[in-house]
Amino acid sequence: MSDSLNKPDMSRVDYREGADVQEQHAIAAREKDEPISASHPVSLTLFFLCAILLLAGGAFYGQMTGGFNFTQLTPSGYTMAPDPRAGVKKVEKAWFEEQLAAGSTIYKTCGGCHKSAGEGDPAQNIPPLAGSEWVTGNTERLALIILNGMKGPVEVEGKVWSGNNMASQAASVPTPEKLAAIMNYVRHNFGNETDVWVSEEMAAEAMKISEERGGGQTTAEELNSAHDKMLPGEAIDKQTGKPAGGAEGGDATPAEPAQTEAEAA
Ligand code: HEC
Repeated sequence: MSDSLNKPDMSRVDYREGADVQEQHAIAAREKDEPISASHPVSLTLFFLCAILLLAGGAFYGQMTGGFNFTQLTPSGYTMAPDPRAGVKKVEKAWFEEQLAAGSTIYKTCGGCHKSAGEGDPAQNIPPLAGSEWVTGNTERLALIILNGMKGPVEVEGKVWSGNNMASQAASVPTPEKLAAIMNYVRHNFGNETDVWVSEEMAAEAMKISEERGGGQTTAEELNSAHDKMLPGEAIDKQTGKPAGGAEGGDATPAEPAQTEAEAA
């Protein structure tokens, strides 16, 4: 036995090279891993630990929120905004289109006399609205004709009309909304065109002026001497019906200056 201790077993690989002490040390030193300056792979243990933590965390969060369900995630009392695609087909009518639609209904009461195309009725001494300066001109005159009626001779498009008279139509336009609608309708129909749209504010002013006037049918003479002007009120954007010239006033229609005195009969 002692023999075998002192004499290394030369059949073992390491010892084959020799029994020299220094050589043996060198051999022992080689057995250790050489330190390397490269990234080491992450240990599998750490990898699986992270994976388990992520899975467990995700499962816990999912469970607490009802499986990431939207309705469960929203606080109580919160209502979902309507789907913006739902209203795509519904095109909002421009303000002026609503005015023309409302005005055409009211015009049925005028149309019995002034006829459906505003051509008037010569047989009944009823003047036309188509091409009439009383219609497309200054708005205060037109409003007062509608609210108070008219009598006496009136010149329309170079022809003098008399022999008939118009009673007050105030009952057909009891509100500023309706008065504005009928005015806008006759001012933008039968081939009539004007830049100015009558707002409810202007129509309300017309009602005040009519009240102060004190009733009774108007005459061409009175209208031209006292009421040949535009109704007060801010010019409005015909798309929105809101005052033009505001921050977002896109299609503004500037107010028409009151310059028809000379042209009106
Ligand atoms: C019962 C028949 C009758 C009805 C209804 C009537 N008018 Fe008249 N209108 C007349 C007559 C007649 C005159 C001319 C009055 C005159 O000779 O002084 C006239 C004159 C006018 C004038 C001035 C002249 C011209 O032709 O431009 C306007 C504007 C007018 N009417 C608008 C209207 C509007 C708007 C309505 C409906 C809200 C209406 N009228 C309803 C009979 C009518």
